[in-house]
Amino acid sequence: MPPTEPPAGSRFPLPVSDHQPSAYDGPSRDEIMALRREYLNPGLLLYYDEYDEPICIVEGHMQYLWDEQGRQYLDAAGGIVSVSVGHCHPKVTERVRAQIGRLVHTTTLYLHPTIVLYARAIARHFPEGSGLTQTYFGNSGSEANEYATLLARLYTGHNDMICLHNGYHGGTGATMRLTGIDDWKFWADASINVHRACPGYCYRCPLGLSYPNCDLKCAHAVEDVIHAAPDRAIAGFIAEPIQGVGGVIVPPPEYFQVVYDIVHQHGGICIADEVQTGWGRTGEHFWGFENFGVVPDMVTMAKGIGNGAPLSAVTTRPEIAACLSQKLHFNTFGGNPVSVANGYATLQIIDDENIQQRARDIGGYFKDKLHALQDKHMLIGDVRGMGLLLAIELVKGRGTKEPAVEEAKRLVESAKQRGLLVGKSGAHWNTIRFAPPMCITKPDVDFLVDVVDAGLEDLSRV
Ligand SMILES: Cc1ncc(COP(=O)(O)O)c(C=O)c1O
Repeated sequence: MPPTEPPAGSRFPLPVSDHQPSAYDGPSRDEIMALRREYLNPGLLLYYDEYDEPICIVEGHMQYLWDEQGRQYLDAAGGIVSVSVGHCHPKVTERVRAQIGRLVHTTTLYLHPTIVLYARAIARHFPEGSGLTQTYFGNSGSEANEYATLLARLYTGHNDMICLHNGYHGGTGATMRLTGIDDWKFWADASINVHRACPGYCYRCPLGLSYPNCDLKCAHAVEDVIHAAPDRAIAGFIAEPIQGVGGVIVPPPEYFQVVYDIVHQHGGICIADEVQTGWGRTGEHFWGFENFGVVPDMVTMAKGIGNGAPLSAVTTRPEIAACLSQKLHFNTFGGNPVSVANGYATLQIIDDENIQQRARDIGGYFKDKLHALQDKHMLIGDVRGMGLLLAIELVKGRGTKEPAVEEAKRLVESAKQRGLLVGKSGAHWNTIRFAPPMCITKPDVDFLVDVVDAGLEDLSRV
C-alpha cells in the first residue's frame, strides 16, 4: 500500500498503515458540528476550535486514526491515555464481538465466568503479598474513585480525605472535590471534607526549593495538612503516581514513601489512582506506584484498562472491600459481560505482546529524542514522564518559566495540520502530553518528533 497522503501543510510522510479505512458516508463535519451545537451540552470540551477546525474522527486502527475525509493521523493522545494496546485491536474486537453475539447484559446478581477470571488476572498483576486481591468493577474513572473514597471512609470511620494540588480524579460530585485543579471544579460539588496537600512538582516547586536539598519538604507537609482535619483523623489519601491532567508531574522517588508513612501513622488508607499510569504505561513497572517503592491499600483503574471502552475497577484488600457489605449495593453495568470481555482481552494482549516492555523501550527512545529537541528549542522548559507517558512543558523563558500558553495551543494545532494528534495539559495548559497507544513504533516516534520540531520552528519565526 502506498504511503498515506499527508494532510495539507505536512512536510513529513505519515508512517504507512496496512489498514484501509472504509468509505465514510455519514453527515459532513459541518453538519455534525451544527448538530452538536444544537443537541449536546455546550460545556463539553472540544479541541481545535481556536485557530483551526474541529476534527471529526470516524475510524481507528492501532496507533492511527482517520477523519471523515479519509485523512490519517498518528494518535499520540491515545484518547486521553485511554487506548492502551491500539484502536480496535483485532483480538480485542474479536472477543468483544463474540461476547456481544452471545450475551450483552446480565448483572452481578447472577454468576458469569469472565468477570471472575478477569478479576483473578488483575489480582495476579499486583505485587505478591500486597493483599490487593478483590475488585469492584465500574464504568468510569470517576466512578472508581467515588467507590474508593466511600470504602476509605467506611473502613476508617473517618470523613476527611487528602488529595494533591494539581491532581485530577474525575468530574462527579466527590471526585470533583478531590480534583486539585480549579479549572475543573464547579462550585456545586459534593460535600465531603477534602484537604489539599503539596505535590512533588520539582520543575515548579510549590515551596520554592530544589531536589534533593529540599529534604522532601513537600511530602512531609502532608502532616500539617492532616493536622487541619478534625481530631487529626483522615479516611484516606488519594493521588496519581504521576499527575496526568496536571501536566505529567513525576514526584521525587521517595515522595510517596514519606507521604504513605504519614498517612498510615494517622490511620488513613492510601489510594493510588492508576487511571493513567497503570497497565504498563510507565514502562519499568506494570503499575505507576511501583516506581516509587510503595504499595497502596487501594488501586483505582480506568481508561487503558478497557482500551477505550467504558470500564473501571477498584482493587483492595478483602478487609477493606468487605465494608461494601454493610448495606445493600448494586451497580447495573459494573462488570457487564461485554466490558469485562474487553478488559480481559486487553490485559492478555498487554502480557502476550510485551506491551510494558514496549512502553519502556520505545518510551526511552522517545524521551531521548525529546531531550534532543529541548537542546534545540528554548521554548521547551522541561521534558518529563516515564515510559509512554511523556510531556514537554513550554515556557517563554527558561529563567522566568513563564508558561507559554498561546504557543502550546498553536503547537497542538500545527501538529494536527501535519497529521499528529497530541493533547495539552497542566495547570497552565502549557504542557504537551504524549500518551500514544502503546503499540507505537520507532518510525512513528521519528515522525512525531519531526512534526513537533517543525511546529516549534514555526513558533520561533512568529
Ligand atoms: C487520573 C485520573 N483519574 C480519574 C479520571 C476520571 O476518569 P473518567 O473521565 O473516566 O471519569 C481521570 C480522567 O481523566 C484521570 O486522568
